[in-house]
Amino acid sequence: MERIISLPEYEAQTAQSRDKRMAWWREARFGLFVHYGVYAALGRAEWAMAFENWPIEEYEKLADHFAPRKGCAEEWAKLAKSAGMKYMVLTTRHHEGFSLWDSQVNPYNSVNYGPHRDIVREFVDACRKYGLGIGFYSSLMDWHHPDAKISATDSEARRRFNEYIDGLNRELLTNYGKIDILWFDVPEPMKSAEGWNSLERNQKMRALQPDIIINNRSRLDEDFGTPEEHITADKRDWESCMTFNGMSWGYVDSEQAAKYSLNAHAILRMLCKVSSSGGNLLLNIGPAVDGSIPAEAIEPLTTVGRWLQANGESVYGKMDRDRLDCSLCNGLCDTTVKGNTVYIWNWIWPKDGALVLGGFTSRLLRAHILGSEDDLQFTQEKYRILLRGLSERSPGIAGVTVMALEFENKPEFVAFAAIPQLNDGKIY
Ligand code: GLC
Repeated sequence: MERIISLPEYEAQTAQSRDKRMAWWREARFGLFVHYGVYAALGRAEWAMAFENWPIEEYEKLADHFAPRKGCAEEWAKLAKSAGMKYMVLTTRHHEGFSLWDSQVNPYNSVNYGPHRDIVREFVDACRKYGLGIGFYSSLMDWHHPDAKISATDSEARRRFNEYIDGLNRELLTNYGKIDILWFDVPEPMKSAEGWNSLERNQKMRALQPDIIINNRSRLDEDFGTPEEHITADKRDWESCMTFNGMSWGYVDSEQAAKYSLNAHAILRMLCKVSSSGGNLLLNIGPAVDGSIPAEAIEPLTTVGRWLQANGESVYGKMDRDRLDCSLCNGLCDTTVKGNTVYIWNWIWPKDGALVLGGFTSRLLRAHILGSEDDLQFTQEKYRILLRGLSERSPGIAGVTVMALEFENKPEFVAFAAIPQLNDGKIY
């Protein structure tokens, strides 16, 4: 490895290669997060070891109950593919400190315990088989390592612990071919990038994988932001990670949790929100201890995949950040924008065969429903567009229909055009 460069130099260098490295990711929009580890044996989410105060030696034994069935990684990849997702991120080692690969630096791993198999290898093979981008989640916090906690105050322990973290990530980025994403998490107990040697480590990791994309959780900004459990646009590249039940990432063994799970409609609302503001959605599943996908995730995700087959152009690819920035039709529709086309995502279908959109100042050339080649009839007067002749019920899968409106030029919009008290005169 060449010499370690300073932070400003490093940031300039990574910024320069960013467009090229991130081109695929910026168009991919939708990925699957997989939280899988020993915690699945308890079925009380991924923080059980900490919240339930498990002594390390006792928790360690649970690893023998970790029992991924053969082919489970392929089941995840198959589901991701059929959901229209473009990449997967696996928790290769979560905070509990259990490595899902044949690690030489961490003997607490899935080859020495439980299945005696390299689950990371199976995951990588499955991603490649289904043409999915490959992401490695890698916790910085480690509840199992004896130096982790004291490394906040003891510099010798910190040196050893950082070396251990280097070793883990070096293995991950050396032994499995090309890896697309390195997804760090929870940089505790050190409170600074210096404490974690992040500048040095991340440079070393990039030397191993020159095209890799790194998230912002090693106390350096790196390539993309990671809003967690909320979808909030950022000026930089960003990816919202969301749980399936609104509560936890790791498996929860409870019918009640299953009931709180997302349906296809809710997932589509998330996808609309990220697509309209230039972000990605990393949606999580927490497989059971045998690696099986919680049943409640399968139907909604495959429905979303069918929906994306018809409506993908309103989601994938280079979307313009939605300057319209406003819900149309009383919030009954939302929009995404690509070039001269506005995609109207309809959530509540009109009863009388007509949909009115107010505020557009650009001339509409053509309107059609995605998935159908037939043009929609429309009239346009001043600010109002009236789409007519709509079917009685929403024709869209999961009741979500997208209408593509192609304008003469980049679509412009005036909010509340006819109402002087509300019209701020701005053209959006
Ligand atoms: C949090 C949690 C962790 C989860 C992660 C996902 O930082 O500690 O359990 O893996 O978020 O973003």
